[in-house]
Amino acid sequence: MFAIDRIRRQFPVFRLTDDHPALVYLDNAATTQKPMVVIERLQQFYGHENANIHRGIYRLAHKATQSYERARTKVANFLNAKQPEEVVFCRGTTEAINMVAQGLRHQVTSEDEILVTAMEHHANYVPWQTLCKQTGASFRVAPLKENGSLDLYLLGKMLNKKTRVLAFTHISNTLGTINPVSEIVELAKKHQCLTVLDAAQSVAFDQVDVQDLNCDFLAFSGHKIFGPMGIGVLYGKTELLADLYPYQQGGGMITEVTEQESRFKNPPHGLEAGTPPVAEAIALGTALDFVSEIGLLNIREHSQKTLNYALDGLNRLGKVNTLGPGSGTSNIISFVMDMIHPHDVATILGEAGVAVRAGHHCCQPLMQALGINSTVRASFSIYNDTDDADRLIDALKTVQKIMS
Ligand code: ALA
Repeated sequence: MFAIDRIRRQFPVFRLTDDHPALVYLDNAATTQKPMVVIERLQQFYGHENANIHRGIYRLAHKATQSYERARTKVANFLNAKQPEEVVFCRGTTEAINMVAQGLRHQVTSEDEILVTAMEHHANYVPWQTLCKQTGASFRVAPLKENGSLDLYLLGKMLNKKTRVLAFTHISNTLGTINPVSEIVELAKKHQCLTVLDAAQSVAFDQVDVQDLNCDFLAFSGHKIFGPMGIGVLYGKTELLADLYPYQQGGGMITEVTEQESRFKNPPHGLEAGTPPVAEAIALGTALDFVSEIGLLNIREHSQKTLNYALDGLNRLGKVNTLGPGSGTSNIISFVMDMIHPHDVATILGEAGVAVRAGHHCCQPLMQALGINSTVRASFSIYNDTDDADRLIDALKTVQKIMS
C-alpha cells in the first residue's frame, strides 16, 4: 500500500506554514525535496561525527571513513554493481560525465567519433563537444523522430568502428522519453564502443541495474533522489574506471609523490581527489535506504498514475500541446500553451503556489531540433498526488483567463 500521507509527513517542506497557498512541488526533475531522515543524517554527521576521511588515525576519523565507505557499498547495492569499487563519488551527474570525457582524453584521437543524441541535456553534450574540440575527434548527434523519440535506425547507422563513445540519457529531462537502454547498449557493443548512460532522471523513477543494462559508465546526482546537493555518482566497470586518467589530482588520490613523478591510487579513490563531500555521501546512502524502503516499483507506479491524471486534465483544457512520446510513460510532462510564453505560464503558476520549470531545460540543441525556444515542464514524485495535479490544472485555467 502506497501511503502518501505518511510519505508527505516525512518532508518538512510540505508542512503547512504561514506561506499560503500550500506548495505544490512539480519541479522534481530539477531537484527533489528532502525527507527528514536525510536532513537529520547531515546534522548528525556535522554535529557529532565530523572528521576528514582516509587520513586521521583517531576514532572519529576512523568512524567517518567507515560511514563514507558504507555509503559507497549502499550505492553499489542500489545499482547492482559488482563491487563497491565500481562507485566513484563526485559532485553530481555533470562532474561524473566530465570525469569520463576528460579521463578518456589521452585515448581519443582525431580519427575517432563521439556520438550523443539530440535529446541530451547540456551535461551530457557539452563535455563531449569539448573533448572533440580538444582531440580533433568528430562530434556526432543522433537525431530524433518527429514525435521526439530517438531514431534507433539512424542511431544504428551512425555507429561504426570509429565510434569511441556513445553517451545517451535514460530518461529525457525535457520530454520524459524513456530510451530502451539495453537495446541501445547492444547496438553500441557491436562496434566495441563505450557507453555512458545519464541516469539523472531515471534513478528515482525506476530500478536501474547496471549489470542488466550492461552500460560501461553511468552517472547520477544525489539531489534528484532525495539526497543532498553536491554529491553524485559515477559508476564504471572496474577495468574501464582503471583506464580513466584522473581529471583532478591532489590529496587523497596518490600513493607516492616526488619532485619528478606522482603515482595514483586505483579507482575509486584515485578518482576522488581532495576532501570529498563526506556528510553528503553518507546522507545519500540514507536517501537510498529511504527509496528502497518505499520501493522503486511503487514509486514508478505512483508517479505514472499521478502524471496520467494530470495529462488527462491538460488534454481537457484545450490549447495545450504536450511534447514527446514520453508523455504518460515517465514522471515528466512538457507542454506549451497556444500563444502564451512558458515563462508567463510558470510565473502565474508560481503565484498560485505551483512550482514548475519553464525554459530550455538545459537542452538548447533539443529545443533547436523541436523548433521551439522553451516549454513548461511538470515533473512528479512520490509526494505528489491528484490534488497537486488538480491545483496545476486550476492554475493553468487562471493562466488562460489572464493571458487571453
Ligand atoms: N537537469 C536539471 C533539470 O532538468 C537541472 O532541471
